[in-house]
Amino acid sequence: MPMIKLPGIIDPHVHLREPGQTHKEDWGSGTMSALAGGITLVLAMPNTKPPIFDAATLDLALSAARSKARCDYAQFLGAGPGNADWNLHIGLPQRSAGLKMYLDSTFGELRLDDMSLWRPHFEHWPLSLPIVAHSESRSMAAAILVAAIHNRPVHIAHISLKEEVLLIKAARERGIKVTCEVAPHHLFLSNDDIPTINQGHPGRGEVRPRLASKEDVEALWENLDVIDCFASDHAPHTLAEKDGDNPPPGFPGLETMLSLLLTAVDDGRLTMDDLLSRMVINPRRIFNLPEQPETWLEVDENASYEIRASEMHSRCGWTPFEGWKVKGRLRKVVLRGKTAFEDGKVLVEAGYGKNVRARD
Ligand code: DOR
Ligand code: ZN
Repeated sequence: MPMIKLPGIIDPHVHLREPGQTHKEDWGSGTMSALAGGITLVLAMPNTKPPIFDAATLDLALSAARSKARCDYAQFLGAGPGNADWNLHIGLPQRSAGLKMYLDSTFGELRLDDMSLWRPHFEHWPLSLPIVAHSESRSMAAAILVAAIHNRPVHIAHISLKEEVLLIKAARERGIKVTCEVAPHHLFLSNDDIPTINQGHPGRGEVRPRLASKEDVEALWENLDVIDCFASDHAPHTLAEKDGDNPPPGFPGLETMLSLLLTAVDDGRLTMDDLLSRMVINPRRIFNLPEQPETWLEVDENASYEIRASEMHSRCGWTPFEGWKVKGRLRKVVLRGKTAFEDGKVLVEAGYGKNVRARD
């Protein structure tokens, strides 16, 4: 069997739903899902219930993580209307993955609708720690400008549009410190695929940013050199919720990201080096993450299989890629010297995962 060895993958954008919505996912199921997707380090988003925005809520998330996580992790803090005085909370930002700013409406309560709330966050958040913006189109342009005015880097989450990738390219050519990520669903799906995803349930295809046009998808592939990271934006909601009255936006993605991208390598759409720079090297640099010693993946390069939600570890129970044929099967994950996943099973216990921002 031709087995290839790859480094453990970093996913800088996942929603693990704990505290508050553990019927969708929790630190246990979410990190099992990560390991089953070859991801050894996740950065968790703060739009939980309650949202993570101060010391008490950060402790809430981190204590659940400490007892349940099976892969390594860090937790983002969220920018809210009343918590921009980061300078007064000595040591708190350093315990987080970074600051997440929601500048457009999406799932959850964390939102900075009023632009006057943006600048205090850019001013007070420590320069050494990342700021990630959920900002689409016009608000993305505004976020890049405000970051540039404060002469600090900003990372744009899940870009999806041609105009976005071209604007980031132009900003970078002028020396502005902006990086970005793209989610696999915006690379492999367009709005033409919505009927197939929906299967008659219009909530299933809902995701923010929305699936874009074929032209947008093509522009992302054509400008791959502008894209620094691949990030799943794993956003689990149960099928009952997706098919219900008020369907929440979001797709799961932890268990499908690597195989979809390995398939693209096999198809000649990107090189293995392109993949590894965007899933290991760049996220480690942008988010200032430590190397994980004695950590690797073993992948059977030639094994093809069909994606099936029924084989996954996430609690959400569905995938927009159901039935897709992919090539490149993850056989084994070794995390810090221990076999963490092998032949479809997670083998490390709850609590094995380490907080990479913990100071010991
Ligand atoms: O579709 C989305 N779902 N986009 C987001 O920005 C949030 C996410 C979620 O938390 O469900
Ligand atoms: Zn997200």
